[in-house]
Amino acid sequence: MSALTLSNTPVAAVRADAVVIGIAKGENGPALASGSPAAAAVDAAFGGRLASVLGTLGAKGGEDEITKLPAPADGLAAPLVLAVGLGTAPGEGTAFAPETLRRAAGAAARALSGTGHVALALPAGDAASLAAVAEGALLGAYAFTDFRGRKTKPGRNGKNGRKDPQPENGDRESAPPAGFTVLDADPADPAQRAAAERAGVLGEEVARARDLVNTPPNALNPAGFAATAQAAAKEHGVKAEVLDEQALAKGGYGGILGVGQGSASPPRLVRLGYTHPKADRTLALIGKGITYDSGGISLKPSGSNETMKCDMAGAAAVFVTVLAVARLGLPVNVTGWLALAENMPSGSATRPGDVLSMYSGKTVEVLNTDAEGRLVMADALTRACEESPDAVVDVATLTGAMIVALGKRIFGVMANDDAFRDLVHSSAEQAGEQSWPLPLPQELLDGMKSTVADVANVGDRMGGGLSAGLFLKEFVAEGVPWAHLDIAGPAFNEGGAFGYTPKGGTGSSVRTLVRLAERVADGALEG
Ligand code: BES
Ligand code: MN
Ligand code: ZN
Repeated sequence: MSALTLSNTPVAAVRADAVVIGIAKGENGPALASGSPAAAAVDAAFGGRLASVLGTLGAKGGEDEITKLPAPADGLAAPLVLAVGLGTAPGEGTAFAPETLRRAAGAAARALSGTGHVALALPAGDAASLAAVAEGALLGAYAFTDFRGRKTKPGRNGKNGRKDPQPENGDRESAPPAGFTVLDADPADPAQRAAAERAGVLGEEVARARDLVNTPPNALNPAGFAATAQAAAKEHGVKAEVLDEQALAKGGYGGILGVGQGSASPPRLVRLGYTHPKADRTLALIGKGITYDSGGISLKPSGSNETMKCDMAGAAAVFVTVLAVARLGLPVNVTGWLALAENMPSGSATRPGDVLSMYSGKTVEVLNTDAEGRLVMADALTRACEESPDAVVDVATLTGAMIVALGKRIFGVMANDDAFRDLVHSSAEQAGEQSWPLPLPQELLDGMKSTVADVANVGDRMGGGLSAGLFLKEFVAEGVPWAHLDIAGPAFNEGGAFGYTPKGGTGSSVRTLVRLAERVADGALEG
């Protein structure tokens, strides 16, 4: 993980391998973004001609645009200047939107992989801008190289992975910058230090979630995920309990067991508990942790299964959120439930037509074994509600239908309580994550009627993301505010990297959940 420091040293004296400045889209070519004395000093080193030099090089100042140029002979200690586009500048005296700065810093960090130390001279005059620049840089500085070349590191299950004793990874080009210095800052200011610390925790925990999602499914099974969670929880003072397949059978967790029974790697349910002595509210988070979703007997076709290691992204988000909240010491209790199973076809797998007896006591006819997420989530939801939390949020890569509805970058938010849904949606917005509220129309439940059981696990294909949400709602205790996040679109980026978002696992919803926990700690559920 890259280090981040704050500095008020004049840029001319800052020893770095590159300096990043921001440029806006002007009428006639790019314009230096105002608001950074350090960037103005970089311009001065170019004799005040930096914007025109960049224009000559073809820069326009559009978002995500990167232009690199050598520093002039005198006036800067860094050999390289990188100009990142910020798009159209806001009105005089108005700061750039935090998400614009976050994405620009992330794009710059990505463009500087292989570079040692990076100084950031982006317009970060106020606390919100500084936090956004720090976060964006750290989120953009990500690479997943655990399975490249010859490594000594074994897989997370303890038995998979390469073991050749070859210390050098040989992949230095893709290594993110070793460190960042945010210029124009005040390292003595407590608010700025807190913002930098928060950015550091978010950067590390989002990276932890991305790593888990990117880990191939033969190196991360339910037991391996549970062991990873247990070890990290211990390190950060979080309580962890793991139910193995025997404990799940004894407890009557028919949903989790039914999904996991076709796999050679048995399922797990993990409970993580963070408590704060001054907290008066408890937030329960539940994550879908299908370490691989083949579809089961209702097998997915080739073309739909290659990225299904991402089907545990909800559990990864919940896991790292509990760690982030603990590391930040937020005065709120948070319980994290990881519903872990591998969905595989075999002679012992659940068949389409089987009836499962769920933890809640309800029976479910499994008409499609590929609708497995709702089965493991239902059991975890019922169990989480037994502890009477003040609010419940579940996170899942639940339906392809949600991707059809909202695309690859926006997650859906459904809830049994409009005010709580709005709280989650606005927390996402504040965190810089795109989400959108969706309804849970009761009539869609009719499509999930079963001729033999209390309910079937699939309904009408139309509105499939909403039916899945309605199914989950049946397992939430009456009177508990609950929101369901379907992150099937944004959890895994199959396209190119953009802003601070890499290819592969993205860490979707982590910043939203941390922001929500902060607001609950601040009394958002009071009264
Ligand atoms: N894990 C998938 C949903 C998914 C699809 C996540 C694409 C990420 C990318 C889920 O378990 C699934 O297979 N859902 C089915 C439900 C259907 C059988 C009712 C779907 O969406 O097709
Ligand atoms: Mn599935
Ligand atoms: Zn799935």
